[in-house]
Amino acid sequence: MKLLIVGGAGYIGSHMVQQLNRQGHEIIVLDNLSTGFRELARYGELVVGDLADTALLEDLFALHRFEGVMHFAACSLVGESVNKPGKYYRNNVANTLNLLDVMVRHNVNHFIFSSTAATFGEPEYVPIDEAHSQQPINPYGASKLMIERILQDYASAHGLNSVCLRYFNACGADPEGEIGECHDPETHLIPLILQAASGRRKSITVFGRDYATEDGTCIRDYIHIEDLCSAHALALQALVNGDQSGALGFNLGNGLGYSVQQVIDAVQRVVAEDGYSLKVEEGERRAGDPARLVADATLAKRELGWQPQYADLPTIIRHAWAWEKKLARIG
Ligand code: UFG
Repeated sequence: MKLLIVGGAGYIGSHMVQQLNRQGHEIIVLDNLSTGFRELARYGELVVGDLADTALLEDLFALHRFEGVMHFAACSLVGESVNKPGKYYRNNVANTLNLLDVMVRHNVNHFIFSSTAATFGEPEYVPIDEAHSQQPINPYGASKLMIERILQDYASAHGLNSVCLRYFNACGADPEGEIGECHDPETHLIPLILQAASGRRKSITVFGRDYATEDGTCIRDYIHIEDLCSAHALALQALVNGDQSGALGFNLGNGLGYSVQQVIDAVQRVVAEDGYSLKVEEGERRAGDPARLVADATLAKRELGWQPQYADLPTIIRHAWAWEKKLARIG
């Protein structure tokens, strides 16, 4: 299939492009390179551009007959979204509407959307299934939920079929070590701990030990990037085959919660195999962090036939560590 991957030079998008390329699809990447990297998009044909540029979108859709579109090009920093909501609503909502409208005009009816656990807000129960109420507590989560709602209306009005995939904590790297995560600034737990081990930062700070969890640190559901991507590929195939239609939403996680302390311990064991260690410091709570976020992904397994291959935390960490060693030019 010929597919458009918007945001295909970013962390999740680039792994998606690589996986689709390995499956034999033809990929056009649209990315403004604001947070992505040209080298990461190398498994597709890169068009540097922005979703705000409607003329560019028209040209692109006139030039290529896309079977489907996947959209990864969002701003995704929760803290920044609180301070700069306009940036989040403009890019994540208004610009996404540009994309949906050009799809409708060109009769492209299959859309896969990166959504987030942040659409659920403070959980009422865990594991979180699709029936859980969606009441985001920050503009980032709100901007993603707006698109989820818009997609329902576009399905009814225009027959645009879509799947929203709500990620819990995406992590890990290409198991073959060719690409991986490189955010700047990096805010995510696993790469930060690994940077503390490689020497690219001096320590990892634990954001609070007074949560209502077994060891007092926050619990998250860490999902390997390859597994996340395989769910997208299955979702697209289900739409193309006509097995699924309308506007659907699935939660993606392993259903396993690990505390910040357990992740640090697991990283310490992995890096110790190579003779590395790291320093841990104590910090205050980070605003807006729920104590526990764990996914119930039963529906994705049942409806899409999704089966995670790398649910094991040490395996996730080993893949991310191999990539970090490359970035840090060690080992
Ligand atoms: N943490 C630390 N120290 C750090 C960084 C993180 O203790 O230096 C903790 C956080 O407080 C949190 C856990 O590690 O408890 C995981 O934090 P991440 O920043 O890696 O991930 P989040 O769970 O905050 O964020 C993820 C996605 C967001 C999404 C959010 C939903 O990355 O896009 O889940 O709440 F919005």
